[in-house]
Amino acid sequence: MKNSKIAIIGGGNLGAAIAEGLIKSGFVTPQHITITRRNIDALQHLKVQGVNTTSNNKEAIQNSNVIIVALKPYNVKEVLEGLKENFDASKHIVISVVTGVSLKDLTAIVDHGVPIFRAMPNTAIAIQESVTCICHSGAKNDQVNYVKELFDQLGITVAIDEKLMDAATVLGACGIAYALRFIRAATQGGIEIGFDAKTASLIAAQTVNGAAELLLKGNRHPEEEIDKVTTPKGCTIAGLNEMEHRGFSSSLIKGVITSYEKIGK
Ligand SMILES: NC(=O)c1ccc[n+]([C@@H]2O[C@H](COP(=O)([O-])OP(=O)(O)OC[C@H]3O[C@@H](n4cnc5c(N)ncnc54)[C@H](OP(=O)(O)O)[C@@H]3O)[C@@H](O)[C@H]2O)c1
Repeated sequence: MKNSKIAIIGGGNLGAAIAEGLIKSGFVTPQHITITRRNIDALQHLKVQGVNTTSNNKEAIQNSNVIIVALKPYNVKEVLEGLKENFDASKHIVISVVTGVSLKDLTAIVDHGVPIFRAMPNTAIAIQESVTCICHSGAKNDQVNYVKELFDQLGITVAIDEKLMDAATVLGACGIAYALRFIRAATQGGIEIGFDAKTASLIAAQTVNGAAELLLKGNRHPEEEIDKVTTPKGCTIAGLNEMEHRGFSSSLIKGVITSYEKIGK
């Protein structure tokens, strides 16, 4: 499937970020990507790089093998219904990044035995640092490997069962907001103890970056790393315990569960 032509239907924030990332990584040449939206003037930044931009979804699908659907959930059915005659199982795979539209629903719309994937990235896809959870229906091994490789260009990829897609949305996509709020709060604390806002924000953000890298690159458990910085009777454990007394871990866990309950409604 290497060198497949890719159509991105719905070139908004996510669709355009996927195109940018795939070009930057060298996974595909700009000429092998076609991206669509009604207001194609908004795709000028991709057009100047050599990407095909059009508002003709039918043409985009006919000229491509991999169809990435990045429409809003409320118009995916209407748009795909109008295009269903153009899908061909011997030529196409469909990858939907649309939140909340199931493989079953997508299969019912697209039909023709076309292999369907769902992928849930987060906004860090814009800088190729997403975690993208993927599940599929009816795909062959080479197609599964191709889709994994595609999203690996944009961060890391985790294969999941579809029943975990809502959980993936909360932990990975909403998770960006939780992490940013942590950085914002740490910054506010940093200002109170003497830093200007810009410096406090830089220190807080890079500290979170370093902490994450310790886990990802060092393959460590968080508590193992926490133990290294908590000197007996020291300031770290005193601050950490105060945060816990005030419900730090508990509020995070409850927030994750609240988001999950909301998404399921
Ligand atoms: N942003 C994220 O971090 C994120 C993460 C995970 C999943 N998602 C999911 O990804 C999807 C897209 O999100 P987004 O933030 O990128 O939304 P968005 O910026 O609104 O992008 C959707 C695009 O679809 C285009 N569109 C509408 N009708 C169309 C049609 N008939 N043909 C072709 N294009 C059409 C719109 O452009 P025109 O109005 O110009 O046509 C718009 O730019 C959503 O389902 C969202 O739930 C987003």
